[in-house]
This record gives sequence, C-alpha cells and structure tokens, in this order.
Amino acid sequence: MTRAPLPAFYDDLDASFAEAWRLLAEGAALGRSGFHLPALATLGADGVPRLRTVVLREADPETGTLRFHCDRRSDKAAEIADNPACALMAYDAAAKIQIRVEGHATLHTDDAVAEAAWAGSRAMSRVCYAAEPAPGTALPAGGAYTLPDESAAATTGRPHFAAVLVRAARLDFLFLDRRGHRRAAWHRREAGWHAAWLAP
Ligand SMILES: Cc1cc2nc3c(=O)[nH]c(=O)nc-3n(C[C@H](O)[C@H](O)[C@H](O)COP(=O)(O)O)c2cc1C
Repeated sequence: MTRAPLPAFYDDLDASFAEAWRLLAEGAALGRSGFHLPALATLGADGVPRLRTVVLREADPETGTLRFHCDRRSDKAAEIADNPACALMAYDAAAKIQIRVEGHATLHTDDAVAEAAWAGSRAMSRVCYAAEPAPGTALPAGGAYTLPDESAAATTGRPHFAAVLVRAARLDFLFLDRRGHRRAAWHRREAGWHAAWLAP
C-alpha cells in the first residue's frame, strides 16, 4: 500500500508551529478550510463553560493573535468582558489537524481595531448587528425580530459591533497519522514561545 509522504513538519517543532499558524491564517481567508469556523469557549458567570461557532477573521503569527467579530449585546461579549480567559478549537479533516488555542480576549468597540474590522466587513455581515431585539432575547415567536436592509445596517449596526482579539497564551497542535500521531504544545513566555512534544 502506498502512503503519502510524511509532511515536512512531522518531527519538527518549529515547522509544526509555523504550520499551525499558516493553517489558521488560511482558515481566516478560506471558507472551505476547517479552521474557518472554530468553536469559541468562554466561561459563564454561573461557572458553566459556553461554546459556540465563530468565523475566524484573522490569524497573525507575528503577534500570536486571532480575531473574530461579535455583537456587543451578546452573551459571549458579556462573558469576555467579565472574564477574558477563552479558548478556540477547530479540526480540519483534510489536513487531519486539530488546533486548540487558549488565550486572553479583548473586546474592541470604539477604537481603531473596531473601526478597521467594521470597515473590512461586508454589508451582508453588517446586517446581523442591526438586528432587534438583542441576541439572546426571548421572543414570542421564532420570527419576532427585525433586520434592516443592508444600507441602513451600515449605521444602525455599528453601535452593536465588536471585534475581539485573542492573544494566544497556549497552542496545542495534533496531527493524526497511522504511522504515529504527533502532538505538540507551545506556551507563551516573556522570552518567546516554549515548545514541547506531548504524548498524543
Ligand atoms: C457557521 C456559523 C458562524 C457563526 N459566526 C459567528 C461569529 O462570527 N460571531 C458571532 O458572534 N456569532 C457567530 N455565530 C453564532 C454563534 O455561534 C452563536 O449562536 C451566537 O452568536 C450566540 O452566542 P452567545 O449567546 O454565546 O453570544 C455563528 C454561527 C454559525 C453556525
């Protein structure tokens, strides 16, 4: 049986780290990537972990930062404001790679980060931020909420928009292969990232 050659990052920690960030950056750019829609975990005020899908908007290997967007009226925004500890996780079945990131989230609503993110958002995406009532509000019927048209959303959506930056503190990388899985983790330290292989 012929098998695909092992990837160049297989037994190389630095190359695995570069591959993780390359995949995350690709996930931000490509809708078909398994890393485009990570699950975001936050901690509720009641101590219960909360998970939901978000769109990965940017992954910057230089700063080790990820960006997603949310409605500042949403539960996740309140949870982040309360406790910035969060985690993101995604698995790409084609690459057979799972990436888990733990870090510290900051909500950006009225600064340059938020302005740039809003300016880069499509009209179609902006509409969600102009929905009334706020996300999570109990409704008398499933359709009892309103969305404005795309042109109105440019102004009515902006006050509800937030960009969230997650500064990674830990990254866990798992590559599945029948010849032997490879798992590695990186911790951010003052001097830089500390890398280690882990038993998968
Ligand atoms: C494919 C997909 C993409 C989503 N992208 C986002 C997103 O980028 N930002 C966001 O706030 N919610 C996004 N959502 C909705 C969330 O998963 C969640 O249902 C909603 O934001 C309420 O979450 P919360 O109550 O924890 O704030 C997405 C859902 C799906 C299914």
